[in-house]
Amino acid sequence: MLEAKLESLAEEARRAVAAAAEAAELEAVRVRYLGRKGELSQISRQMGKLAPEERARIGRLLNTVKRELEELLDERKRRFDEEALRARLESEWVDLTLPAPGPRPGSLHPVTQIQAEIEDLFVSLGFTVLSGPEVETEYNNFDALNIPPEHPARDVQDTFWVEGGNLLRTHTSPVQVRGMERLGPPLRMIAPGRVFRNEEVDASHEHTFYQLEGMMVDRDVSIGHLIYFMKTLLSAIFHRDVTVRLRPGYFPFVEPGFELDIHCLICGGKGCSVCKQSGWLELLPCGLVHPNVLRMSGIDPEEWNGFAFGLGLTRLVMMRYAIDDIRLLQSGDLRFLTQF
Ligand code: PHE
Repeated sequence: MLEAKLESLAEEARRAVAAAAEAAELEAVRVRYLGRKGELSQISRQMGKLAPEERARIGRLLNTVKRELEELLDERKRRFDEEALRARLESEWVDLTLPAPGPRPGSLHPVTQIQAEIEDLFVSLGFTVLSGPEVETEYNNFDALNIPPEHPARDVQDTFWVEGGNLLRTHTSPVQVRGMERLGPPLRMIAPGRVFRNEEVDASHEHTFYQLEGMMVDRDVSIGHLIYFMKTLLSAIFHRDVTVRLRPGYFPFVEPGFELDIHCLICGGKGCSVCKQSGWLELLPCGLVHPNVLRMSGIDPEEWNGFAFGLGLTRLVMMRYAIDDIRLLQSGDLRFLTQF
């Protein structure tokens, strides 16, 4: 009786071991058959009633069944462990022989990009690209541009003076002087570069920014020429018609002088922090070269005349890409720069 029961229990346990789908199930099977209150323990408790040799025989059988089940359970447990390990190795697999991603390719700063485009345009129109020093003489930056020492126009450009009476150029206009002195008329030149002003920095003001100077000196140059070149320039930059307006503007080195404004491309003319709520941006001061300026650089104003303009390159970049804070351009922040 007990023997048959043992056999059928053993068979049932073998099947349960085989059917266990995971480690936790297997553990439940072990507890159920081999645990202290398990099926086999109950049988051994009933053995007390048996005759001695019967008890010995069933006892041996019970031990055999126990050992067999233990082995089956161990074997199955090992399988589960191996599978778990294999799955983990698979998921954590890394190929250390793969090449590293390598350095990110660099890109040109948006100011550099727009500068190169404008240089290409003006070179195609017969202009020479000149560069001048960032530390300038007071004479080139002011006097030779018809701004003598006591002239109020000096106050408009808060100046960083350096030792020895020189200064950090407040505009690219001193390169006009260098161009006229060095090359003489007829002259078509542009001069992109960095300029400096002692400014309070905010969303639309920087102490360091970029301009692009332009100058043409020839015979019978008119405002018509000036407007033609300015329109050519703006439509090349924006690849579309931009709304412009011409207002009288005062610069001692041009007469007549103009402010060429463009409709703010950031707010579309509604008013924002960049255009100071006006809807317009001063982008292109320009005018006909003052006779005094020509004369001081050794050019006879009776024979020659010309136009000049000073494009705000930094502002232009802000317009083109709708950047509403000038400080981003010099932040060095790669999250900003990698967009261009
Ligand atoms: N140099 C002037 C400025 O920076 C701009 C300008 C250049 C105006 C050429 C007229 C002609 O304010």
